[in-house]
Amino acid sequence: MEAPGSPRMDSACPPIAAFSSAIDEDDLRKRLAFLELGEEDEARLRRLWEFVAPREEGNVRSFYDHIDAFPELHKLIGEGPRRERLHRTQHEYARELFTMHCDTRYVENRLQIGAIHHRIGLEPHWYVASCAKLLTTLMDTLQPLAHEAPDAHAIALKSLVRRMFLDMAWP
Ligand code: HEM
Repeated sequence: MEAPGSPRMDSACPPIAAFSSAIDEDDLRKRLAFLELGEEDEARLRRLWEFVAPREEGNVRSFYDHIDAFPELHKLIGEGPRRERLHRTQHEYARELFTMHCDTRYVENRLQIGAIHHRIGLEPHWYVASCAKLLTTLMDTLQPLAHEAPDAHAIALKSLVRRMFLDMAWP
């Protein structure tokens, strides 16, 4: 059984080092400081996951519907078991985005995902664009909270954007 947060390893994957020579704690600390992504953001996102989780199934479906509308992306995914697996991993990805602590283990996990995307030939600009899709979908999900607590909602969006941009460094 794979550990939570561990992407499927594949011998054909380029080594993590091919994507980044520096994923040490010091580098990560600097990135987090620049992004102004701290423990408060993590705590906020963790609390939000309870609200987001039950809505994720629809989000994942709309994510892949969107991808399917672009043939060059659709062909990377295809049909069958891989597609079903990806639906599950997208849900897991979202859970990690909201609940995992940003440490070097988290970064290694993100680098490994980047290595898988590199292997399948997903170009970085498509990855960045699909992050925008994911982010805007999550913004829609959180929208009802804007009426209940507008200030908290605005702060939550900032935490989410920072977290997403951290991930986007490793396409
Ligand atoms: C925000 C954008 C994306 C996220 C967060 C994401 C996340 C992931 C994750 C977590 C994995 C690892 C699954 C594993 O552990 O095996 C993965 C693999 C994969 N991703 Fe993405 N992905 C994104 C965008 C895309 C796009 C745009 C495509 C293609 C159009 C794509 C196609 C794939 C494929 C084909 C795999 C390998 C699946 C397999 O053979 O198991 N991903 N992705």
